[in-house]
Amino acid sequence: MKRICIYPGSFDPITYGHMDIIARARGLFDELVVAIAHNIRKNSLFTISERIEMISELTGKFGNVTVDAFDGLLVDYVRKRNACCVVRGLRAFSDFEYEFQMALTNRKLNDSFETIFLMTHENYSFISSSLVKELIEFGGDISAFVPEPVEHRLKEKLYVHREQ
Ligand code: COA
Repeated sequence: MKRICIYPGSFDPITYGHMDIIARARGLFDELVVAIAHNIRKNSLFTISERIEMISELTGKFGNVTVDAFDGLLVDYVRKRNACCVVRGLRAFSDFEYEFQMALTNRKLNDSFETIFLMTHENYSFISSSLVKELIEFGGDISAFVPEPVEHRLKEKLYVHREQ
């Protein structure tokens, strides 16, 4: 049976930190699905379709990575995709409590899959999508944190916002 793993997140936008997790996790499974969640607790900058487009462009070179979006609970999406695993990146110690709570809640709801954690590459352990958005807003150099097409899209968004 095909071993499918889900990598869920907001990816608003995708950073080199996420790309590092994708590149490593895809080697462990037959298929890795980057799944963009409609996060009701976050105000997003990019629409879901813009995020799908960006991630697809960046992961197109990987044969076994697909991109999708989901509404509702992650456990329901995992069941729908018939996945055996969920992967999350762990950056710093501060991520642990949140991830621990999420993984255990998910297991209580559905114990038919495992959640695994990959240590984020040390070069990216301090990055977050919000930080990148803040940096670009104030003219900071973000080229070390996001791939060029993402930087380009961020600049476009910023330009449109300023024009309004
Ligand atoms: N390198 C760099 N940064 C990383 C990273 C990595 N490897 N992994 C995560 N981040 C950053 C992200 O950029 C993001 O930054 P931001 O907060 O500034 O936007 C932050 O870490 C965490 O974001 P993300 O990994 O996208 O998770 P999230 O908290 O936005 O979403 C879901 C987590 C989608 C998995 C969770 O909300 C979910 O499952 N939602 C569905 C509803 C559900 O089932 N809820 C019940 C859960 S128990």
